Amino acid sequence: MATLRFDGQAVTTQDGETVLEALLRQDLAVPHGCRSGVCQSCLMRAREGVIPATAQAGLKPALAEQDYLLACRCVPEADMVLELPAAGSLRTPATISAIEPLGGDVIRLRLTPDTPLDYRPGQYVTLWRDAQLGRSYSLASLPGEGQSLEFHIRVIADGQFSGWLAGEARPGDRLDVQEAAGSCYYTPALREANLLLVATGTGLAPLWGIVREALRQGHQGEIRVMHGAVGCEGLYLHQALAELAEAHDNLHYHASVLRPKGCTAVDTRPLAELVVETIGDFSGWHSYLCGAPELVNQLRRRIFLAGARMDAICADVFLPTAPAKT
Ligand SMILES: Cc1cc2nc3c(=O)[nH]c(=O)nc-3n(C[C@H](O)[C@H](O)[C@H](O)COP(=O)(O)OP(=O)(O)OC[C@H]3O[C@@H](n4cnc5c(N)ncnc54)[C@H](O)[C@@H]3O)c2cc1C
Ligand code: FES
Repeated sequence: MATLRFDGQAVTTQDGETVLEALLRQDLAVPHGCRSGVCQSCLMRAREGVIPATAQAGLKPALAEQDYLLACRCVPEADMVLELPAAGSLRTPATISAIEPLGGDVIRLRLTPDTPLDYRPGQYVTLWRDAQLGRSYSLASLPGEGQSLEFHIRVIADGQFSGWLAGEARPGDRLDVQEAAGSCYYTPALREANLLLVATGTGLAPLWGIVREALRQGHQGEIRVMHGAVGCEGLYLHQALAELAEAHDNLHYHASVLRPKGCTAVDTRPLAELVVETIGDFSGWHSYLCGAPELVNQLRRRIFLAGARMDAICADVFLPTAPAKT
């Protein structure tokens, strides 16, 4: 048990309880999302107390050095004094510049931040509608490509963020953008490697950034982009990827749909089968897997068993916001 001091209140933790669980149990307002250490929506700062190492896993060194921690991963070992990040310290205000249909239920959001965002293609940010309501989205844009940031967002009709964006938000509306996070991105050290980029649905967003960054940096190895969707309308960058592959000898694009009515040049094998049967031996391949948790977790295991090194598999799981515990 430990005593947490936060927002003028003292809360005693129960056995094995995280900081987030303890504070929410007392109805204290703490922004959060996945509750799994992925989205970084629950960042807090320890003003006093020892921070367990697990509470800083995946944080940028600069944040860890300033005693930031993930409340959903922090099971305190002793008393702590905690605070939320100071207003404006980790979030940049931004203006919506465009919201456009991309295909099926996917929209493209363009945002122009007030100050340029420091990020690498393939990373993600949390977008905040207000102080409490944030959702993580992967960056599909390239730094230096223009001033705006690009996101591909699947619209869930009753979704608090995506539903609002598709139904109510307008160009000119303001949002906050949290610092970029995530370790799935292209580095020049991979220039000679074979790259496998696999996505379901809007998992394609980070890969659209990564593949264009690799080509921009003159990637020498083979690149295979594999995108899976239920129906043809879900292949929302089909034409653009086919044209990119046409223009680059080392780039190959594969599409897989379960219901192929209305599209050409697609495979009907389930995406995981298409990947495993196309590559065969994964030694020497560097893989990026993005999108639905079931597919990403299944493929990570299969690719590893088929010869890939674990440190050559980069995975971004699009975890939904965890429901509140009752
Ligand atoms: C690291 C990371 C990166 C992400 N990148 C993207 C991205 O680039 N593009 C993108 O579209 N999404 C992405 N997501 C998912 C995104 O953060 C939101 O979870 C999603 O947009 C739903 O938010 P919402 O507020 O619209 O819906 P909510 O209000 O959170 O949920 C509304 C309802 O829909 C259900 N629901 C939520 N997600 C799903 C789902 N995937 N399948 C079925 N039901 C669901 C909820 O359980 C709830 O009942 C990412 C998530 C993470 C963690
Ligand atoms: S990282 Fe803590 S809620 Fe997502």
